[in-house]
Amino acid sequence: MEIIRTPVEMSGWANKVLAAGQTIGLVPTMGFFHEGHLSLMRKAREKADRTVVSLFVNPIQFGANEDLGRYPRDFSRDSQLAETEGVDVLFAPEARDMYPSEACTRVIVSGLTDGLCGASRPGHFAGVTTVVAKLFHIIKPYCAVFGRKDFQQLAVITRMVADLDWDVEIVGHPIVREADGLAMSSRNTYLSASERQSALCLFRAIAHARRRVREGLVEAEVLLQEVEWLLLQESVTIEYVSFVDQATLRPQAVLRKGAVLAMAIKVGATRLIDNDNLFEEH
Ligand code: PAF
Repeated sequence: MEIIRTPVEMSGWANKVLAAGQTIGLVPTMGFFHEGHLSLMRKAREKADRTVVSLFVNPIQFGANEDLGRYPRDFSRDSQLAETEGVDVLFAPEARDMYPSEACTRVIVSGLTDGLCGASRPGHFAGVTTVVAKLFHIIKPYCAVFGRKDFQQLAVITRMVADLDWDVEIVGHPIVREADGLAMSSRNTYLSASERQSALCLFRAIAHARRRVREGLVEAEVLLQEVEWLLLQESVTIEYVSFVDQATLRPQAVLRKGAVLAMAIKVGATRLIDNDNLFEEH
C-alpha cells in the first residue's frame, strides 16, 4: 500500500490509474479505524479496480467548542489495518496542503443541512461538503462509500453530487454495530464503562421503534414520545429525536416507507448519533 501525503501526488496517481482504464473507489475517513471503516473499504474494493482511503481529520467541519484537538488518532495502526484490507493508497494530507492560507471557497448544500445535526453544528456540513468535493476532484473516484451512521451526511453528499452533475456513484453502507447494538464510532473511545452502558439506550430505542412500526403504529408524534421516554431512562440528554424521510430529511407525521428514526444524544461530554430506516429489513 502506498501512503500519499500531498494532493498533487495523489492527483498524479489517480490520473495514471484512469489513463490505464481502471476505476477508483474512494472511502473518505477521519481515521481511527474500526470494523465500520473496514467494511467500507471492502465495499469499495468490490466496486472498483483500485481503492483509495483518505485519512484526514478535517478541521473545517469542527465547531470552535468541538473535539478537533482530542479527536482520536493512530496513524500506524490505521495504515496497518488499511494495508490488511488490500487498500492501494492511503491518502493522508496535511491541513496546510488541503487548505492553503489563501483558500476561501466553501461548497454549501442548503436546506438539507439546516435541521438535525446541522441545527446544533453550524458550518459542520459546509466543512464536510467542501472537503468531500476537494477529495473527489483530487482522486476522481468512480464511486465513494460512506457509512449510513452519518445518515444526514450521506443525504447531503448525495444531493451535492446530483446537483453538481457529478459522475460519482455515492454508496451508502449499513451501520456496523458492536455485539450489544452500539453503533461503531471513533468517538466511542471517549465513553467511560458506565457511559457506554447508558449509550445502549439508542439501540433500545431503535428496537422499540421497529417493533411498534411492525405492530402498525404510524403516528410519528406517539412514537416520538415513547422513544424520548425510553432514552431518558438513562442519564443522557437528548439533542434531537426525529422521524424524517431518508432523502429529503423532511419530518414525517405519518410514518411510511423511507422513514428514518434519527437521534442525537449526549452521554456525559460525548455526543452520539444513531439512526434506523424503520421500514427496511436488516
Ligand atoms: O464521516 C467522516 O468521517 C467525515 O465527515 C468525512 C466524510 C471523512 C469528511 O471529513
